Amino acid sequence: MEITCSAKELFVFKKIAHAAADLGLETYVVGGFVRDKLLGRLTKDADIVCVGDGIALANAVAQRFSPAPSVAFYKNFGTAALKIEEFDVEFVGARKESYRYHSRNPEVEPGTLEEDQLRRDFTINAMAVSLNEQNYGVLIDPFEGRKDLENKIIRTPLEPGQTFSDDPLRMLRAIRFASQLGFSIEETTWKGICMHVERIRIISQERITEELNKILQSTQPSIGLDLLYKSGLLHIIFPQLVDLAGAEYIDGKGHKDNFYHTLQVVDNIAVHTNDLWLRWAALLHDIGKPATKKFEPGHGWTFHGHEVVGGRMVPRIFAKLKLPQNEKMRYVRKLVELHLRPISLTKENITDSAIRRLLFDAGDEIEDLMLLCSADITSKNKFKVKKYLTNFALVKQRLQEVEENDRIRNWQPPISGELIMEIFGLAPGRIVGDIKNAIREAILDGEIPNSYEAAYTLMVEKAREYNLQPKQ
Ligand code: CTP
Repeated sequence: MEITCSAKELFVFKKIAHAAADLGLETYVVGGFVRDKLLGRLTKDADIVCVGDGIALANAVAQRFSPAPSVAFYKNFGTAALKIEEFDVEFVGARKESYRYHSRNPEVEPGTLEEDQLRRDFTINAMAVSLNEQNYGVLIDPFEGRKDLENKIIRTPLEPGQTFSDDPLRMLRAIRFASQLGFSIEETTWKGICMHVERIRIISQERITEELNKILQSTQPSIGLDLLYKSGLLHIIFPQLVDLAGAEYIDGKGHKDNFYHTLQVVDNIAVHTNDLWLRWAALLHDIGKPATKKFEPGHGWTFHGHEVVGGRMVPRIFAKLKLPQNEKMRYVRKLVELHLRPISLTKENITDSAIRRLLFDAGDEIEDLMLLCSADITSKNKFKVKKYLTNFALVKQRLQEVEENDRIRNWQPPISGELIMEIFGLAPGRIVGDIKNAIREAILDGEIPNSYEAAYTLMVEKAREYNLQPKQ
């Protein structure tokens, strides 16, 4: 084989080859599997294309295993899939028209292998390896995909306008592959993307977001995000990020370009974490800046409250992008809202109570928040960076000390709302909340110790303001 496969993969391919030979079908492994093998990347699924009926081949292959795996059919797309010990294999008949995956138009016109390869998205994804007896294992590469892989180039096999109108999602795929693999997009292909950006509007949000997530998960996400911006695609799929771009000047005073700053922060955090949601938090940390931007004469540019406004924007952005509306969203919102807190503590006010509050508000997210904050330090001014980092190290140290002493991150005040209601015979309401908050604040501020007795005394005192006495 011209690609290096595992013993299991070779075993499965042999079975497919025999089934195809029995049916008299020309058959190939094609697409991402071949590309990733040549790149030495991990593979988990393989696409098989045969000149004829892909579903019939899938059935025949399944019969060669015992027990026979079940075959899933996607009639609309003329494809079938089966799983052999965690190895997913998808079968399709070679087609003349494009791979409009998930397209609403189910018409499929059968074609030759070469016609099939021609209608795929990129030369690096259009290579096939033969499973036929006469040339088993030979790479069939009519558009020099292998050369493009070596030169790290993304190029369409057809005139780009044609490839992108067949499936406009491919514009995002081109940028995603550039970001994932560190490849460049060949010039004509790039111009094709820039010319057809408007076509992205016909693509479903789910498919767009899947590509966005893959860009965000690449080693250096800024490559993809910058290409999205420069092509004009970002203006359509994520205008709030575009609003961050550019620097305005008044009286000779400018502010930094918050788009490129954000890209830098995302790259910085990507060095330390693969967690998609922490990367989302980095991408959105300054999203509230355009809405809060002000020029204050004699002072300069300010973005007061951008973390609160940004936090509020998170649910709307998640809903629009069809990202999960669950604890992941709340996590991102929390980090956006808190992202200024650690760095805003200066030497003078790193008091125990400020640290306790930060630990209390951040809870288990404290480490991620600190990571986001250090990624946020991108100034070009060396002195500023040094000052921030020194200060930051101090905050980190104090966080550790206070947490060791007080165990505040998952802390609950010693007297709960339920207990307050029971002691004073109250129904749920504002008074219960006021008393509970007063206890919490007093402990966080270090005014009373973190003990039941101290909290009880304060509770009784506070309740007196409402003419309440403990029931005895
Ligand atoms: N394909 C295409 N146009 C698309 C999607 C897919 O031409 N919009 C073709 C490509 O030949 C691709 C193959 O179908 O290699 C398989 O597609 P898919 O599994 O979606 O992607 P992979 O290329 O395998 O890459 P990844 O798994 O990283 O998405």
